[in-house]
Amino acid sequence: MSLPENYQPDSDLLREKVILVTGAGDGIGKVAAKTYASFGATVLLLGRTVNKLEQVYDEIMTQGSAEPGIIPADMGALGMNTLEEIADVISSRYGRLDGLLHNASILGERIPIEHYDLAEWDKVMQVNFNGVVLLTRFLLPCLQESSAASLVFTSSTVGKTPRAYWGPYSVSKYAMEGFALLLADELDNTSDIRVNIVNPGATRTSMRAEAYPNEDPLTLKTPEDLMPLYVYMMGPDSSENGETFAG
Ligand SMILES: NC(=O)c1ccc[n+]([C@@H]2O[C@H](COP(=O)([O-])OP(=O)(O)OC[C@H]3O[C@@H](n4cnc5c(N)ncnc54)[C@H](OP(=O)(O)O)[C@@H]3O)[C@@H](O)[C@H]2O)c1
Repeated sequence: MSLPENYQPDSDLLREKVILVTGAGDGIGKVAAKTYASFGATVLLLGRTVNKLEQVYDEIMTQGSAEPGIIPADMGALGMNTLEEIADVISSRYGRLDGLLHNASILGERIPIEHYDLAEWDKVMQVNFNGVVLLTRFLLPCLQESSAASLVFTSSTVGKTPRAYWGPYSVSKYAMEGFALLLADELDNTSDIRVNIVNPGATRTSMRAEAYPNEDPLTLKTPEDLMPLYVYMMGPDSSENGETFAG
């Protein structure tokens, strides 16, 4: 699926929405958080590097948007206590969650499987897949409290078409897509939660530069270029469930 042609969101499309973005301190997540805030949302910034989240907080306040929340958390080390605390804070402070953008991810090494370090494999799977499942599981009650929640999972081209040497990054995105589609089916007709997948495609960020160090970043689209699609998927203009959107 792709963005409807000539899509023009209302400037207050996400007013009164509470939206959590993982990996909100950098790259696509940072721009998505600032963009959702600019469309009226109260954004919850989850990430592992607090000073980056504080920088995004400051930028959101400077642009005159609603005060965001900061949730320091490592997606690769989400214990039961942390998960319960995150859910409790959202529930008591905001009463619900209207949107969740699963965006945080790490690339890991791209080397042959037989040389892959097991601890490194596990780390990538924890951040990109297990952490995503756990956070979703614990935030489902908050999402159920919304009258129209949107759950968006960020995948990759190698989450659909395997590519040699992409190891756990590729496998984690495959697994995540399976989980997202399972959830879309499970929640269809039994909840007001929509579940969709976005593949941003080649985008000018530090992750892309790490994967393709010899590429000229100026030839790539920017995170800002993706934002009409990210706003569409998160807001009430979209009604799709169980679909994959390409950036
Ligand atoms: N850029 C592309 O071309 C491209 C293409 C296809 C798919 N994607 C997907 O798009 C999403 C965003 O990618 P990006 O290019 O914006 O990457 P990025 O610039 O590397 O940003 C990733 C974000 O995730 C955070 N993060 C990493 N590990 C984390 C952890 N353990 N706990 C919490 N947060 C963590 C990072 O925090 P720190 O800054 O603190 O490390 C950073 O804010 C990813 O899911 C990626 O797989 C990107």
